[in-house]
Amino acid sequence: MFPVVTSRISLARALEHNRQALTVLCHHGRLPPGPAPLVEQISQRVFVIADMPSEAHDHRLVFFHAGEDSTFCAMHTTPGFPTLRVVDHPLVQHKLTLLRDRTTPTKIFKELVDEIATLMAYEATSDLALEAAEVETPLETTIGHRVMGKKLTLVPILRAGLGMVEGICRLVPSARVGHIGLYRDHETLEPVDYYFKIPGDAAERDFFLLDPMLATGGSAAAAVTSLKRAGATRIRFLCLVAAPDGVRRLERAHPDVQVFCAALDRQLNEHGYILPGLGDAGDRLFGTR
Ligand code: PRP
Ligand code: URA
Repeated sequence: MFPVVTSRISLARALEHNRQALTVLCHHGRLPPGPAPLVEQISQRVFVIADMPSEAHDHRLVFFHAGEDSTFCAMHTTPGFPTLRVVDHPLVQHKLTLLRDRTTPTKIFKELVDEIATLMAYEATSDLALEAAEVETPLETTIGHRVMGKKLTLVPILRAGLGMVEGICRLVPSARVGHIGLYRDHETLEPVDYYFKIPGDAAERDFFLLDPMLATGGSAAAAVTSLKRAGATRIRFLCLVAAPDGVRRLERAHPDVQVFCAALDRQLNEHGYILPGLGDAGDRLFGTR
């Protein structure tokens, strides 16, 4: 059982007793200071944001693991957005600019989404845990490494998330693929779900939820809720363009979900479109504009 953390003192005690489990996911980000630790239970995990004056870094995000086996660990985040990682690799930024261009035709748009997804997956998989594996080369036997645990599962949010699947499968060809069908109601901007299918052993898998756009955050938050309801506990959200409102909404609903994007844009317009954005990702990807 994980310890009950109700104050800074009991948090410090918990850290003393369970430091090994905690160090797996200790995270040094710029998190807002608060008068008391924020403690929330999410499935098997206890999520804690706390000021830790005894530590080298002031503000820390800590996951109590309760014995859970995770392959994800800490990541660098964006100031003010503790769950967000902007992938600022020059190739990603170059391709994203082409993607934003209103004159980019469907064929090129599709290729760019695919390529950016590959590059983002490279970043988002950089901390997957490895295990030693014996391998016989033509000359001798040696010890190599392979990714630990069950196969990574990709879950595109239909439709536009489909455009990111192949690019990631190129790096992780053994990945399983689930699907979540959601569309945004044009009036309310709230998500309406119509399909859900993922592998059965969800609790044992790492999930990458895919959608090029994180606008109001309604679709992403609903998709994560559905994944968790089906047993998933280790989820990352990969998108291309995010709006501040969407990142915050997803963070409020699911503070344990790390978000990777190629750009954090300025704002939403009155129709819930991201500015400057790239328009309607599904329409541009499938030529239905
Ligand atoms: C788009 C996009 C996201 C959603 C983001 O899909 O692909 O799923 O909007 O908006 P939100 O963050 O405000 O929820 P859309 O609803 O247009 O469906 P489609 O992919 O079928 O076109
Ligand atoms: N969905 C899109 O496809 N684009 C946006 O800008 C917002 C939601």
